[in-house]
Amino acid sequence: MATDLRALRTDYVGEPLPDDVATADPWALFARWMDEAIEAELPEPNAMTVSTVRPDGRPHSRVVLLKEYSADGLVFFTDYGSAKGEHLAVNPVAGALFYWPGPMRQIHAVGTVTRLDRAASEAYFHSRPRASQISAAVSQQSRPLGSRAQLEAELAEATREIGDDEVPMPTTWGGFVVDVEEFEFWQGLPSRQHDRVRLTRTRDGWIGTRLYP
Ligand SMILES: Cc1cc2nc3c(=O)[nH]c(=O)nc-3n(C[C@H](O)[C@H](O)[C@H](O)COP(=O)(O)O)c2cc1C
Repeated sequence: MATDLRALRTDYVGEPLPDDVATADPWALFARWMDEAIEAELPEPNAMTVSTVRPDGRPHSRVVLLKEYSADGLVFFTDYGSAKGEHLAVNPVAGALFYWPGPMRQIHAVGTVTRLDRAASEAYFHSRPRASQISAAVSQQSRPLGSRAQLEAELAEATREIGDDEVPMPTTWGGFVVDVEEFEFWQGLPSRQHDRVRLTRTRDGWIGTRLYP
C-alpha cells in the first residue's frame, strides 16, 4: 500500500514579504534570499531547475547549479551539445526555478538565454577540480552511453593522454546566461496565506504585482 500523501501536511513558517515588495528591486531580493539559503546551510542552495522548450513544443526540466548572477542574468555551465543546449539553440528562452525548503521560498525567473563569452567560460572551466574538467572533456552529455564501464574506460584513457597538461575546455562546453525579464517570488506562510509577487522588467524599470497565492 502506497503511503497516503494526502495526509502529509506542513504549516509553513516564514517571514512575510514587505508591504512595498511590488516596488522592490528583484535582484536585491534575489541576493538576500540566496544569501539566507546559503547561511541556513541548505543542501545545494544554488541548485535551480531550468526548463527549456523542445522543438515539439513540450517542456523539459533539469537541475543545474547557478554559478554567477548579476543584473545581467543567471549563469550556469553545461555542454552545449546536450538536450538543453539543443533546445536553447532553437528557442533561446528558459525558466529557472529555485526552491528552498526551510525558509519555504520559491523564486521563478524567465528570460532569454545567450552563451557566456568563451573567455569567461574558460576561466570558470579551469577553476574546477581537475577530475571534473576531465569528466566534462569526456562526456557527450545527453548522448546514449553503452555502459558505466565504457565511461570509466574513456575517463582513464583521457586522464592518461592529458597527463600533466592543462585540460583543454571542449568547444562544446560553456556557460549560458539567462537574462531575466520576469521574476516571481513566493514566500510560504501559515495556513496557506502565502505571499506572492511578480516583477516584470519594462523600459521604465521593474513593475511589480502582488498575486493571490
Ligand atoms: C544537484 C544537481 C546539479 C547539477 N548541476 C549541473 C550543472 O551545473 N550543469 C549541467 O550541465 N548539469 C547539471 N546537472 C545534471 C542535469 O540535471 C542534467 O542531467 C544534465 O545537464 C543533462 O540535461 P539535458 O539532457 O536536459 O541537457 C545537475 C544535476 C543535479 C541533480
